[in-house]
Amino acid sequence: MSDPHQPAWWTSAVVYQIYPRSFADGNGDGIGDLRGILAHLDYLQDLGVDVIWLSPVHESPQRDNGYDISNYRRIDRLFGTEEDFDELLGQLHVRGMKLVMDLVVNHTSSEHPVFQEARKSRDNPYRDYFWWRDARPGFEPGEPGAEPNNWGSHFGGPAWTYEPETGQYYLHLFTPHQPDLNWENPAVRHAVYETMRWWLDRGVDGFRMDVINFISKDLTLPDGLVTPGSIWGDGSPHFTNGPRIHEFLQEMRREVFSGRDGDFLTVGETPGATVEQALLYTDPYRAELDMVFQFEHVSLDQVGGRKWDYRPLSLPDLKTSWNRWQRGLADRGWNSLYLSNHDQPRHLSRFGDDAGFRYESATLWATLLHLQRGTPYVYQGEEIGMTNAGFTSIDQYRDVESLNFYAESTAQGMPAVEALEALRAMSRDNPRTPMQWTAGPNAGFTEGQPWIDVSPNHADINAETDRSADKSVFRYYQDLIRLRHTQDVVVLGDFHLEAPEHPHLFAYRRHLDETAWLVLANVSGDVLDVPLGLASDGPLILGNYAEPGDPAELRPWEVRALDVSA
Ligand code: NOJ
Repeated sequence: MSDPHQPAWWTSAVVYQIYPRSFADGNGDGIGDLRGILAHLDYLQDLGVDVIWLSPVHESPQRDNGYDISNYRRIDRLFGTEEDFDELLGQLHVRGMKLVMDLVVNHTSSEHPVFQEARKSRDNPYRDYFWWRDARPGFEPGEPGAEPNNWGSHFGGPAWTYEPETGQYYLHLFTPHQPDLNWENPAVRHAVYETMRWWLDRGVDGFRMDVINFISKDLTLPDGLVTPGSIWGDGSPHFTNGPRIHEFLQEMRREVFSGRDGDFLTVGETPGATVEQALLYTDPYRAELDMVFQFEHVSLDQVGGRKWDYRPLSLPDLKTSWNRWQRGLADRGWNSLYLSNHDQPRHLSRFGDDAGFRYESATLWATLLHLQRGTPYVYQGEEIGMTNAGFTSIDQYRDVESLNFYAESTAQGMPAVEALEALRAMSRDNPRTPMQWTAGPNAGFTEGQPWIDVSPNHADINAETDRSADKSVFRYYQDLIRLRHTQDVVVLGDFHLEAPEHPHLFAYRRHLDETAWLVLANVSGDVLDVPLGLASDGPLILGNYAEPGDPAELRPWEVRALDVSA
């Protein structure tokens, strides 16, 4: 791994996330696959990204689109063959790109052979690979309220499922098809490390670790607080950044990476991590993770952290949050920068104006993100300004979380229109509609029947059209990526927020030695007067309006990166 005294290679890298099911279908079955990705490598190379993070392609019953793995060393036939995978890896390497795999080891699939063994009897040698507990004292196993504790699962219902065959419950923080692995058991940890080494030996360049800060649980598994409107308790304080998490990650680093030559990348998905915790995870001297995905900025438009209870984003809140992360990880540790992924609504629809100012707001958010200090992540489709799905009927949804939310909330009396409105804004299917390659049938994604509806707006919004348009989001992303590759101030410069309270202006400075940049963004559809002291006619490095503007004014959704070096 990298030398903690030198800036690591990934400080100047940009990562592109592929959600394989929705990227490109090579065999006409309606589901994206590895051959589909292989057919678009020129596109990725042209964009200029350095690393591909591939969401899971391992063998899986696909209850949570691959985040439920039944064989960690096999490619699911849905996505292709072992040869397809090796070809993809080889082709990426030939083009100078790296491949980061998803590592889903907080839980397995309930169809994983080890879970199938474990569930057979209480004394099965694999029993202790998972979390089994008796019913709550005083309750009959299986009766309502008898779960070992009151935790709810992330996708609705309790976090425990009863198995009458052995008279115990098993823990699953996600669906019942995703039993949590017991990391207290050294055999579990060493099996994970062995699998990681196996993938590195195969040639992959690192891992994005799914909910990795959930792997260490409070062994007493205490009840969680029940918030108004909820039936289940919130167990998260008892499994998020748990008691042994740092020990486990340091052990993983030693067991998997020490002595191994190469440029690797590890990024942990860490919901609920604070800046202070992120510093512990990413301080290179502690040798845990290179960077983490934090969730603070994508929770600001949720009331009380409840995802379906959303409100408009307050820009000052976002500025405060990003500023805290920039400053908190300025001297040690490292930020990952993202606005979209396969779990979040498309940020263009969420925080921008995807109708009137689609190009301007897509490029504004990209600029604000990419010119911070950290490693930017591009989620497939954002580089051409793709929008939320715009689904109007529950039949169009596929995601387990969305379907469970709809069933539960309507059963509890929420009118269907309201539930549909919430899904339209926040569902994880929003970013999962097929990648829009062309204006042709199914957006050029598949020659078959797509597994999820293609957005009708592909007639206007697609890679082919965008790349040849005067206002091309793709070309703008190319420019941003080039800046990260070539400008040290972007990579290593310090960060200084301006006008923190301003409701519509997002302004910050970057400095490195003699170089000073000023980024000014008007996060609104109205003309904005630039406050005194920030107006500058310094040379424009990058902006999203072709015509030069008045230094004292920003046009709707205008962003400018200016060179203000003395
Ligand atoms: C986070 C992943 O990004 C999400 O898609 C998945 O459903 C959960 N973890 C469970 O693996």
